[in-house]
Amino acid sequence: MSRLLTVFGATGQQGGSLINYVLSNSELSKIYRLRGITRDIFKPASVALKKRGVEVIQANQNEPSTLAAAVEGSYAVFAVTNYWEQASAAVEIAQGKAMADASVAVGVTLLIWSSLPSVTEMSKGAVTFVEHFDSKAAVETYIRGLPIIKAFFMAGWYMQNHIHFMRPKPRDDGSFVLAQTWGPAARVPMLDITDTGKFLAPILLDPAKYDGKAFTCATDFYTPLELVDGWTKVTGKKVLYEQSGPAEANKNLTAEMQHKLMKKLADSSYFGPTGTADLKWTLAQIKEAPTPWVEFLRANEPWFSDVKSSA
Ligand SMILES: NC(=O)c1ccc[n+]([C@@H]2O[C@H](COP(=O)([O-])OP(=O)(O)OC[C@H]3O[C@@H](n4cnc5c(N)ncnc54)[C@H](OP(=O)(O)O)[C@@H]3O)[C@@H](O)[C@H]2O)c1
Repeated sequence: MSRLLTVFGATGQQGGSLINYVLSNSELSKIYRLRGITRDIFKPASVALKKRGVEVIQANQNEPSTLAAAVEGSYAVFAVTNYWEQASAAVEIAQGKAMADASVAVGVTLLIWSSLPSVTEMSKGAVTFVEHFDSKAAVETYIRGLPIIKAFFMAGWYMQNHIHFMRPKPRDDGSFVLAQTWGPAARVPMLDITDTGKFLAPILLDPAKYDGKAFTCATDFYTPLELVDGWTKVTGKKVLYEQSGPAEANKNLTAEMQHKLMKKLADSSYFGPTGTADLKWTLAQIKEAPTPWVEFLRANEPWFSDVKSSA
């Protein structure tokens, strides 16, 4: 009999791409049947999942009483939170703990938590405001103390961030500019989030082997200059990089916060000082190579066709 894999965030990017992967992978689809969790079983994304054979169950991470039924009977649970919906560390920590507690209570074997490293710890207390990293790390610490096989999925910077809200902007001279707070030498771990299943497959195939392991998930580290060179190569348009200051960037962060954040990225990158070695280890575990930046750009063309440019 197949094992049940319950996926939180099934209608979103991480959970949705895990479901796509399991459904299309001959080995995993023999082992696992799927359940997707959503707050709205009638929305188009939920109906589409149902049509593809996924059991769709309604539950809310903010209502712990709904979670035991959501995970009941599962062999494995993938738990992801959306920090940005309420932008509260306390809410994200409560959601993560509630999904973990429910998983333990009903006897789930494997829990995969979508985690991130604690920036407060990595920076030795110098940067304490990257809440959505610290809160995921706090849940990871909690899960590490629970009697369940656990593994951690740490997503790099989504390549998809650049499809919509971080797309290069046109300039009057026909070129385009990507403006970010990163210094030009920053090393950004880029992940095509549709590759989620490639990274989770080894864990789902051999949970005991990966008990307690954290997967550092990205194709590679890229500098901002490599990112813009990719666009130039693929589109033939000149794309430049500009390091933006606090005013143009996140207005919620003070100048001092921005400076510290940029310094953190330049010093140790997103995954901290062990990030390069951790990514190397992770890539050695997976069977299918993740998508390189230029390939992602090609797959998501056209980029600037809607913009009039003379370049
Ligand atoms: N963007 C990046 O570069 C990046 C990198 C690393 C990590 N992350 C992290 O990724 C997380 C978001 O994951 P994603 O990109 O997969 O999100 P997403 O595409 O925005 O989808 C969010 C999913 O979470 C579900 N959800 C949200 N609140 C819920 C609740 N209270 N109860 C039940 N389900 C709930 C939604 O389901 P319904 O709406 O159907 O209920 C939806 O399926 C964030 O925490 C972010 O910090 C992002």
